Amino acid sequence: MQLDSHFSYKNEILHCEGIPLPSLAKKYGTPLFVTSKSAILDSFQRFEKAFAPLNHLTCYSVKANYTLEVIRALVEIGSGFDVNSGGELFRTLKAGANPEKIIMAGVGKTADEIEYALQSRILMLKAESLSEVRRINTIAKKLKRIAPVALRITPNITAETHPYITTGNHEQKFGIDEALAEEVLCEIKSLKHLRILGLDMHIGSQIQDPKYYYDAALKLIHIKSLCETMGIEVEHLDIGGGFPVTYSQEKKATPIEEFAKVLVPLLKSTGAKILLEPGRYMVANASVLLSEVLYIKENHNKKKFIIVDAAMNDLIRPALYGAHHEIIPVVKRGAKKLTADIVGPVCETGDFFARERTIAAVEEGDLVAILSAGAYSTVMASNYNARPRAAEVMVCKGTAKVIRRRETYEQMVANEE
Ligand code: LLP
Repeated sequence: MQLDSHFSYKNEILHCEGIPLPSLAKKYGTPLFVTSKSAILDSFQRFEKAFAPLNHLTCYSVKANYTLEVIRALVEIGSGFDVNSGGELFRTLKAGANPEKIIMAGVGKTADEIEYALQSRILMLKAESLSEVRRINTIAKKLKRIAPVALRITPNITAETHPYITTGNHEQKFGIDEALAEEVLCEIKSLKHLRILGLDMHIGSQIQDPKYYYDAALKLIHIKSLCETMGIEVEHLDIGGGFPVTYSQEKKATPIEEFAKVLVPLLKSTGAKILLEPGRYMVANASVLLSEVLYIKENHNKKKFIIVDAAMNDLIRPALYGAHHEIIPVVKRGAKKLTADIVGPVCETGDFFARERTIAAVEEGDLVAILSAGAYSTVMASNYNARPRAAEVMVCKGTAKVIRRRETYEQMVANEE
């Protein structure tokens, strides 16, 4: 198993940027998310290098991981941000982001969210329907403002990925159907409180083949020309997020440079300012979820279970998408192996991290690390089974700090009468 370079074994003990992980588990308890700040910054820089030939702004999609300190790390390094709700906008502003570098998506923005975005003077709202366009115009009129808007276009491209996270075709709820773009643009021309600043697409997540982006971007460019014939000048083209990461060494992700190779010449020729919205790419492999092995049990039919103290409420991806996350011992015990289901304490058969997985042998009381736990984990966490949310620690060059304290029982009931 090849780890992200910021996590490595020293004397058979897993470390993050020089800190032994058992010491963090001892100090802060488990389940515990441990994030390498350098890993996030390195991913950002690699992404920037790949797309450097373009006049572009990378807008980290905070839905992947919106812990304030994670957003702050990306603010410091100059990232822009893509938000999908008022709550994400609040977090991003609170972390110190410049509103002029924030864009907002969302297929169902409420009037309050639209008003909040306009009052915050963000770069643009990405409208996903004609009704939303009209609503933005009405709210902008009330505020005596001109709303900066991009139209999210559905290019009718079905990118190959998990069906829950492919978003670019007409069977899904997102965006404005490419076939209706002209009709929508005609109406927009009559709205006085809108300015069309860009065209946008997002065709899905964890997409391995750059050809889907190429095909979809071509459609966006076609609509850009249509806009121009209608007298609408499009300054920005936003090609969304969805760039893949490696979850398992057997299925390595297509390198980001391959996407750049296909997209840069095409996008450069448009003369537009390009927006990109990577989420997972920046954070997925920057974190591990540390968990303690509570019990190991074997049924009469030899079926084994490793019961750990993390559960689907901490990381739902295996239960929800059948997603693969590598699981490794924090302290190696030698070459012995064990095949088992690795499960949590939640009262559901769906509460598993791996099924019939062969891993290096562990014993009760050992720690395991669930890898690639930085994206779509804490943000999708819940209190199911009244389990407090896990703590998070960020490590940077030999120092560790808590970036989210473990939730308490009292905090879990604080809003209830
Ligand atoms: N932009 C928009 C408009 C999006 O909806 C998304 C993700 C992104 C950017 C960032 O996509 P990324 O680069 O992270 O793939 N919970 C699922 C993933 C859901 C993605 C939702 N939208 C998972 O755990 O795989």
